[in-house]
Amino acid sequence: MQIISTIAELRARLTNERAIAFVPTMGNLHEGHLSLMRLACEHGECVVASIFVNPLQFGPSEDFDKYPRTLEADCAKLQGLADVVFAPSVNEMYPAQQTMFVELPPIADELEGAVRPGHLRGMATVVLKLLNIVQPQVAVFGKKDYQQLLIVHQLAVQLNLPISIVGGETVRTADGLALSSRNQYLSDAERVEAKFLYQTLQGMKQAMLQGERDMERLQKQAVEALAARGWQVDYVAVRNQSDLLPRSRLKGELAKHDLVVLAAVRLGNTRLLDNVEVSV
Ligand code: PAF
Repeated sequence: MQIISTIAELRARLTNERAIAFVPTMGNLHEGHLSLMRLACEHGECVVASIFVNPLQFGPSEDFDKYPRTLEADCAKLQGLADVVFAPSVNEMYPAQQTMFVELPPIADELEGAVRPGHLRGMATVVLKLLNIVQPQVAVFGKKDYQQLLIVHQLAVQLNLPISIVGGETVRTADGLALSSRNQYLSDAERVEAKFLYQTLQGMKQAMLQGERDMERLQKQAVEALAARGWQVDYVAVRNQSDLLPRSRLKGELAKHDLVVLAAVRLGNTRLLDNVEVSV
């Protein structure tokens, strides 16, 4: 496995590769990332991971400085899974002020976009830069960041990138908490409490499978249940899987609806994101 920090060196290393599968990350790798790496191994002969904490996707009051940087441990975890690790500096990725950005579709103003202005634009811009640098045939993103995955997919399709975007399943702890680098910010008591997010989403899914069709009522009940436990709820939303547009009430007994329940909540100082797919 090679660890490369410059774009020129990376391009030289990848120049003769014809089946590159790429997993972009911000490092501090956990089993969720490693499952994406294993998926990438199924899709390419040369597997590249990037590790870059992207300043462009953090708001001024967010955790860019605090975000855990663990390059050595990350590289140890990537042994046997990656052929190349690309770990550039901020200066390598942004040698001059970045004034060119990807303009996103209206769906990027909702959900994460409504709560974290500029986050998805910064994410999409660095993803486009990384895809241009690595030039993979396949790129793998986690379904945990469902809106990110949708936007990256639309980016690849609408900007005609010759890249297949593949979504990897969320990996969870035994009590259901979705793995995330930010989980380590949780106190012991918050960590015990955190499982209630997935339980709430599962409860909504079960209600839908048992015939509940009033999505607004379901969302309201979930928000109230989380708030009653002292959580600050950014959103709980039932959306279409395909475009993330809202569904307030389902019509048509015979129509099949592929939906996803998305939630973002704050438990103490930690922001947790999760989602559950439901087909009814
Ligand atoms: O999901 C992430 O870790 C980041 O948003 C990504 C895709 C690596 C871009 O910085």
